Amino acid sequence: MQRFDGKTVIVTGGGGGIGGATCRRFASEGAQVAVFDMNLEAAEKVAADIRATGGRATAFACNITDRAQVDAAVAAVEAQLGPIAVLVNNAGWDVFKPFVKTVPAEWAKLIDINLTGALHMLHAVLPGMAARQYGRIVNVASDAARGGSSGEAVYAACKGGLVALSKTLAREHARQGITVNVVCPGPTDTALLAGVAEGARDPAKLIEAFRSAIPLGRLGQGEDLASAIAFFGSDDAGFVTGQVLSVSGGLTMHG
Ligand SMILES: NC(=O)c1ccc[n+]([C@@H]2O[C@H](COP(=O)([O-])OP(=O)(O)OC[C@H]3O[C@@H](n4cnc5c(N)ncnc54)[C@H](O)[C@@H]3O)[C@@H](O)[C@H]2O)c1
Repeated sequence: MQRFDGKTVIVTGGGGGIGGATCRRFASEGAQVAVFDMNLEAAEKVAADIRATGGRATAFACNITDRAQVDAAVAAVEAQLGPIAVLVNNAGWDVFKPFVKTVPAEWAKLIDINLTGALHMLHAVLPGMAARQYGRIVNVASDAARGGSSGEAVYAACKGGLVALSKTLAREHARQGITVNVVCPGPTDTALLAGVAEGARDPAKLIEAFRSAIPLGRLGQGEDLASAIAFFGSDDAGFVTGQVLSVSGGLTMHG
């Protein structure tokens, strides 16, 4: 018997670095994984890799900023894979610039993807979990939400919002058997980090600065995050809710 046998798990941004590793981790422990991404090709690739190694995964095209797409994709998961036990809100996007150099169109895009997208997913999935009196929600925020991060003001604001939202939903849904927890990655070796670095004067220098600032001496890998996400998604964490865990090699150490 594995931890996620018989469980259906949605991972948004499942075609990306942390999301892909998370999909593979859940599948390797018996879950049926719904790989959500607006990049269907990336989601298909993750799902095909999982199936090729004997796991169960299906790709779904879903732009989480579009409520109609979210409702359609969630309904398709329920019809094809059954009730949703675990939701991982992982999709995200960032742009690295001093706040005064950003423009309102960038704020709108950041808020749409990093905050409103998660709201849509939660609003679509929570009623079913509440009716079944079971659910595990894991929201992927960022250490930028906990300690601040130069060049990521609006992104950090969204991720801070996600932390506050998670604690509130953890309270509202605790008596329905639903837990809501947050994983905060530090600098992690994915396309998103490469994109953030591109915004710097010297991208290689920025990546090296991140690496050398991390006490454990390396960037995070998707698998580092997947372990923590899977823990919160499992019944091992059944008595843990409203909590925030940094997975950042010790970059930040919050009490
Ligand atoms: N990589 C890091 O250093 C780092 C640090 C802190 C937090 N995070 C957070 O971790 C999460 C995963 O990031 P990653 O590093 O794996 O990035 P990534 O770019 O590798 O993956 C992000 C995925 O999200 C998808 N996506 C983006 N917008 C979407 C939308 N509107 N609808 C559906 N899918 C969408 C992308 O297509 C991509 O596949 C994000 O929430 C990010 O903010 C990452």
